[in-house]
Amino acid sequence: MLTQSLPNPLVVANWKMHGSLELCQEYSIKLNASSPGVDVWVAPPSIYFHRLSDSISPAIQVGVQNLYWEQSGAFTGELAPSMLAELGASFAIIGHSERRTMFGETDQHVARKCSACIDSGVIPIVCVGESISQRETGNARRVVSEQVSSILRACDSKSPVQIVFAYEPIWAIGTGAVAEPSDAEDMHCHVRSMILESTEWDAKQIRILYGGSVKVENAAALVAQQNIDGFLVGGASLEVDSFKRICQIAAGV
Ligand code: 13P
Repeated sequence: MLTQSLPNPLVVANWKMHGSLELCQEYSIKLNASSPGVDVWVAPPSIYFHRLSDSISPAIQVGVQNLYWEQSGAFTGELAPSMLAELGASFAIIGHSERRTMFGETDQHVARKCSACIDSGVIPIVCVGESISQRETGNARRVVSEQVSSILRACDSKSPVQIVFAYEPIWAIGTGAVAEPSDAEDMHCHVRSMILESTEWDAKQIRILYGGSVKVENAAALVAQQNIDGFLVGGASLEVDSFKRICQIAAGV
């Protein structure tokens, strides 16, 4: 019987609303050698998409941090999945907690975006995660379950599916308070079992990333967990040398 090998770990840089032409250039110069054993993706602000994708190593995928679910229409300021696919954006981060809390995105919005991404051949990186009060009141697993199930309900009929999940506890984002590796592993394991139980997808092939204060110092302990398949990196991705080192750690170098 043919067994499919597991995908490489994946490390994604989320620049958020940071960066500059200078950072695009620095990424293109310093990340130009492809790293064996790890997939590296970068999400700059969309306005820098072309500058980065034109100059960076073709081994590195460039994507976006958000998109809309409609393919065209009177939606001022929005970007359609089909447009992004046409320009070569291979992935989109969707449902980031900053978009959920500051821009009013609901589970339903995120599910529609996810579905539109898959239909257009743009890989969605679906972010999920609980707030500190939800964790402290013992509701972390319930919140994450609701976020994941709305995605699975909207997209489980799509096959074969290319999708990535990112568990980003809100209290760990930009705070330096990284999750304990065993707590993160527990939630990743839960997300993978939800995929296994409610879809026909091969759950082992779906990468579940951890995000929230990932740094050079904590990356090894996190990626050593069985169900942590890589990282979504915010602050540390603005320092190319740190980001590169995190990629190497994920590759086991
Ligand atoms: P930090 O790495 O800055 O905590 O941000 C994580 C994040 O939100 C990535 O999407």
